[in-house]
Amino acid sequence: MGSVPMTKPFKHRHLLGIELLDRDDIELILDTAVGMSEIGRRRIKKVPALRGMTIVNFFAEPSTRTKLSFEVAEKRLSADSLSLAASSSSLTKGESLLDTVKNIMAMSPDVVILRHRISGAPHHIAEHIDAAVINAGDGTHEHPTQALLDAYTIRERLGRLEGLRILLCGDIAHSRVARSNMLLLRKMGAEVTVFGPYTMIPMGVEEAFDVKLHRGSLEEALSDKDVVMMLRIQKERLGEPLLPSDREYSMHFGLTMKHLAHVRPQTLVMHPGPVNRGVELAPEVADSDRSVILEQVENGVAVRMAILYLLCRPGEAADG
Ligand code: CP
Repeated sequence: MGSVPMTKPFKHRHLLGIELLDRDDIELILDTAVGMSEIGRRRIKKVPALRGMTIVNFFAEPSTRTKLSFEVAEKRLSADSLSLAASSSSLTKGESLLDTVKNIMAMSPDVVILRHRISGAPHHIAEHIDAAVINAGDGTHEHPTQALLDAYTIRERLGRLEGLRILLCGDIAHSRVARSNMLLLRKMGAEVTVFGPYTMIPMGVEEAFDVKLHRGSLEEALSDKDVVMMLRIQKERLGEPLLPSDREYSMHFGLTMKHLAHVRPQTLVMHPGPVNRGVELAPEVADSDRSVILEQVENGVAVRMAILYLLCRPGEAADG
């Protein structure tokens, strides 16, 4: 088995949100992920870097990409990996989240990865347990590993983040992906514009996140952008419908092949998934050569390997 390069120390105990990271932290994660990506291209995609470490993946909300890519990342780093879903846990019998996590801690894991519908749930458990906590998405608050893999994908494709013009389109108010991306992209010097139905734009977003709010059409918003990130309507987080229909939404906010004819040749189309084809993204756009959606998923493994490695072995050589 091979090794991964030695890295600078990561100065955080947990990865709870982009809001707690600075530009150096983000660059360290992205640079470390470059080495991890190389491991994924080897015939034997495994290094002993985290041998003997125990990692618990606790997903109290559904997930395909985040859960599976953390599991692949853990296996590639030789960690012992356990997965727990809320639906098959004793949460269904009335046990509290904190009691569940304390019981998990009795088995001495080194890292707990948590996805939860309540904003701040990972921060809460991080205060009570002696393991590194990674936020895999908390309510409408943050999804830091998604923003990091998005940044990795943009940097890999376009060579930089600084100075790029990036459009986030859709349900900005209820999207933790939008929130983490606005924070990360602004910290890295990108220019961020948000666009969507007025009922899905948070009040004061321009001042709170130092972004622009586009008030015209999608065509106008796209004209000078290097990247367009399309977002799903977070129906599971809406108390009551904020739109007349999906059809009406797609007429004003859905990206179609007609739009792509007018964007710049290098413009990337991104989506964190899951995609609602025919709503925010026409199927032909999702499958077009502008779309980097599956590259985002592939890069998610390398970025999550980097985060696990930095949290578990800060500043150490990872040769096993
Ligand atoms: N992007 C993302 O978080 O996808 P999953 O919900 O499938 O993990």
